[in-house]
Amino acid sequence: MRAMVYRGPYRVRVEEKDMPTIEHPNDAIVRVTCAAICGSDLHLYHGLMPDTRVGFTFGHEFTGIVEEVGSSVQSLRRGDRVMMPFNISCGACFFCARQLYSSCHNTNANATAAGGMFGYSHTAGGYDGGQAEFVRVPFADVNHAIIPEWMSEEDAVLLTDACPTGYQAAEMGDIKEGDVVVVFGAGPVGLFAAKSAWLMGAGRVIVVDHLDWRLQMARTFAHAETLNFTQVNDVVQHFKDVTDNLGADVCIEAVGAEADGAGFQHLATVKMKLQGGAPTALNWAIDSVRKAGIVSVVGGFGPLFSAVKFGDAMNKGLTIRTAQCSVKRHWPRLFQHVKNGVLKPSAIVTHRLALDEIAEGYHMMSSKLDNVVKPLVFPRAA
Ligand SMILES: NC(=O)c1ccc[n+]([C@@H]2O[C@H](COP(=O)([O-])OP(=O)(O)OC[C@H]3O[C@@H](n4cnc5c(N)ncnc54)[C@H](O)[C@@H]3O)[C@@H](O)[C@H]2O)c1
Ligand SMILES: [Zn+2]
Ligand SMILES: [Zn+2]
Repeated sequence: MRAMVYRGPYRVRVEEKDMPTIEHPNDAIVRVTCAAICGSDLHLYHGLMPDTRVGFTFGHEFTGIVEEVGSSVQSLRRGDRVMMPFNISCGACFFCARQLYSSCHNTNANATAAGGMFGYSHTAGGYDGGQAEFVRVPFADVNHAIIPEWMSEEDAVLLTDACPTGYQAAEMGDIKEGDVVVVFGAGPVGLFAAKSAWLMGAGRVIVVDHLDWRLQMARTFAHAETLNFTQVNDVVQHFKDVTDNLGADVCIEAVGAEADGAGFQHLATVKMKLQGGAPTALNWAIDSVRKAGIVSVVGGFGPLFSAVKFGDAMNKGLTIRTAQCSVKRHWPRLFQHVKNGVLKPSAIVTHRLALDEIAEGYHMMSSKLDNVVKPLVFPRAA
């Protein structure tokens, strides 16, 4: 089969690779019909995620058609149209029993920090991902939903990560009616966080980025106010000025390890690898939220420490909540929102590529070219 493979930092290409096989009776093999490139994939592409091996296939957001099922799979048949959460979970451990699927204790032998994920390096279990014609789905009974007839494939693929992650980001902010919510990052995750903040009762939503076309989408798709952080002297002071000197009630960090905005932080992280992520947006969030406010962090950071302003957070009495999204937990509610027309996740899709064009797709995402927000990839399997 054809699959995207990692060749080293900033180098990916499409190669012939062995077909995945059923390795356990509860596996399924899925023929991928649509996959997405995620902001999280850039951390792998840039060589910032430990143990990303040459030959590994990325892709944790995909939909497809069941090709084959293992002998103990109960709830799937060949031909079913399915979507997978980016988390791989066992469904039975302490964490899965509490719907904390991203913390599954059985699917990532390599670490106790996070559960398994599709296509996210050996740090996340070493499972080849879905930017390929076929993919193996472990614990297949647990890790899928049949795509309802009324749901488009492009909406479904956005529900495998970006949309539920934004939704969980807002949920972790424990937004009260009328709250001022500031979202750092106008990528897919930040856009969905802003949209979700309204659903949870926010009175004012402000999205921060420096890419004008993404801020434009924050205004049209998420109906938010926007701030281009390059156009103010001091982001934190700006939020004090617009909130009677109090600060925002809730700040959501949807930027992660590769934040721009403070050159030395970026240098210490991306170039010198001295810390596990440039916490520029996270520190802005800590400083921009009011005393006793909530900072919700879904931006991806590496396992190494980062220079986070923890003393300020402690003295202000902040609540900091953070997680890899437990995607499946949010599906029942999000499916309703999509069915009722409250949410149209695919509205943020900007590019549709063939699998053979995926290297260009990564380059475009990495360099933020051609007004990209969310590119989809369509492998055409024989
Ligand atoms: N927790 C989870 O489960 C989960 C799931 C998906 C993605 N993520 C992470 O969420 C983050 C966002 O994902 P995405 O797909 O939207 O990525 P993205 O790269 O498309 O978007 C990030 C945005 O942040 C902007 N930005 C950079 N520095 C900034 C700053 N200092 N202040 C404000 N904005 C800034 C960038 O211009 C970009 O538009 C990534 O770190 C990703 O790894 C986490
Ligand atoms: Zn993703
Ligand atoms: Zn589990």
